[in-house]
Amino acid sequence: MKAEFGIIGLATMGQNLALNVEDKGFSVAVYNRTAERTRKFLEEKAKGRRIVPCYSLEELVESLSRPRKVLLMVKAGEPTDAVLEKLFPLLERGDLVIDGGNAHYADTERRLREAEGRGLLYLGTGISGGEYGALHGPAIMAGGHREGYELIEGLFQKIAAQGPEGPCCAYFGPGSAGHYVKMVHNGIEYAVMETLAEAYDLMKRGLSMSCAEMADVFGRWNQGELSSYLVEITEKILRYVDPETGEPLVEKILDTAQQKGTGKWSTQSALDIGTPAPTIAMAVFARVISALKAERTEAEKLLPGPELHLHGDREEFLSDLFGAVYLTVIAAYAQGLRQLRDASAERGWGLDLSEVARVWMAGCIIRSSLLVLIRKAFLEQPDLPLLFLAEPFRSAWEKHHVALRRVVARAHEAGIPVPAMDSALDFVDAYRTARLPANLIQAQRDFFGAHTYQRVDKEGTFHTDWEAVA
Ligand SMILES: NC(=O)c1ccc[n+]([C@@H]2O[C@H](COP(=O)([O-])OP(=O)(O)OC[C@H]3O[C@@H](n4cnc5c(N)ncnc54)[C@H](OP(=O)(O)O)[C@@H]3O)[C@@H](O)[C@H]2O)c1
Repeated sequence: MKAEFGIIGLATMGQNLALNVEDKGFSVAVYNRTAERTRKFLEEKAKGRRIVPCYSLEELVESLSRPRKVLLMVKAGEPTDAVLEKLFPLLERGDLVIDGGNAHYADTERRLREAEGRGLLYLGTGISGGEYGALHGPAIMAGGHREGYELIEGLFQKIAAQGPEGPCCAYFGPGSAGHYVKMVHNGIEYAVMETLAEAYDLMKRGLSMSCAEMADVFGRWNQGELSSYLVEITEKILRYVDPETGEPLVEKILDTAQQKGTGKWSTQSALDIGTPAPTIAMAVFARVISALKAERTEAEKLLPGPELHLHGDREEFLSDLFGAVYLTVIAAYAQGLRQLRDASAERGWGLDLSEVARVWMAGCIIRSSLLVLIRKAFLEQPDLPLLFLAEPFRSAWEKHHVALRRVVARAHEAGIPVPAMDSALDFVDAYRTARLPANLIQAQRDFFGAHTYQRVDKEGTFHTDWEAVA
């Protein structure tokens, strides 16, 4: 009997996905470059299951029923190309390759064209949910050949997280649509994590709150409009006591965060297509600055700032902080979804944003109760330019914008950086301003570079000899 599904790459994600797929009634053949990992997996986790170990790509391809369906879960970038270079020639017309890694969308476009040239089907597929999601149900964002998706849809629907509105998997469009949606998902993830880190910093350094007190605040937030996976794990992290020291473990962790690629790519692409995603960008830069630990330590001695304490009523500040976090998180989703809308228009994907919100409702890292409202907003108005223009987000802005202003102003007064909150406020303030100061920028460009400008009172393109007039 040949296996129904193949997996290449048996690190965290590949192993757990193999177990998940087998659990749902499919036989699986697995292969990993290093044979030892395959042996260990079979011995320790896959004993007695319908999981066939293979020790060469030839053996894997041979052991699959046709059309073959092979999922790659290897390191993104060159390793993926190294595997595909060997795998493609072994496959036959109509076989399907799914890249489930965090590939850059441009790589996915290139690999898809190569697969197409060989008569193969290709799906660039974002898989979110980490180790737990891979085993119990991830969110699956597919793009590429629709016929390929049709071959695998039944399996994806069974292994995906089961959300309130169906299995969290979907085909988002041709080309790299799936990997692009996953990339922006990660961009939003960066922004929400940064927002929660800023709230923690304000409570810790500004209000001198203990980890247990802060955990209570996140716990309360998780009961209401901010209910989400990331708020939930933040509460749990703050409650975790280091068995070695008896102190909160989070305070023993070095304050430098990595940025592995997808957040950066999301921002680079936003700039390329000219879509405003400042809160996501600031979250990436915040991690970049965090990595300058040695320099920051020196600068702290050299550059003075104000007194760190946030004076005034603690409960009032915490109430404002809820509003500030809520609006900043909405801004993160609003910018990410706007980016998807613009990318889809540019590339002709026909992306359905209500479907994106549905797939993100369970299994993935940015799952949250907000997504129910976001889905509703895009179902009612599929071409909605920005979330804040629709209810209940417009009313949320009206209700909380003064709180966001107070939090940002007080953070600045205390010298505590809040780049995500600050950028969210600036973003919406700029977006809701009919006349911005870009007229002066047009004039400056014309002054030094004769770039010309348009006028508000007549049609045409104009140039002025500014020195002469002045
Ligand atoms: N970890 C997560 O939470 C998560 C979540 C979503 C998506 N992803 C994405 O899913 C993919 C897999 O992630 P992961 O964390 O399970 O594993 P990973 O650490 O990203 O990659 C390790 C796997 O890649 C293989 N590999 C590395 N270089 C190779 C090469 N040159 N040729 C062949 N195989 C090679 C390794 O094989 P050896 O054993 O031989 O070294 C191993 O199977 C990645 O693209 C990742 O970005 C990860």
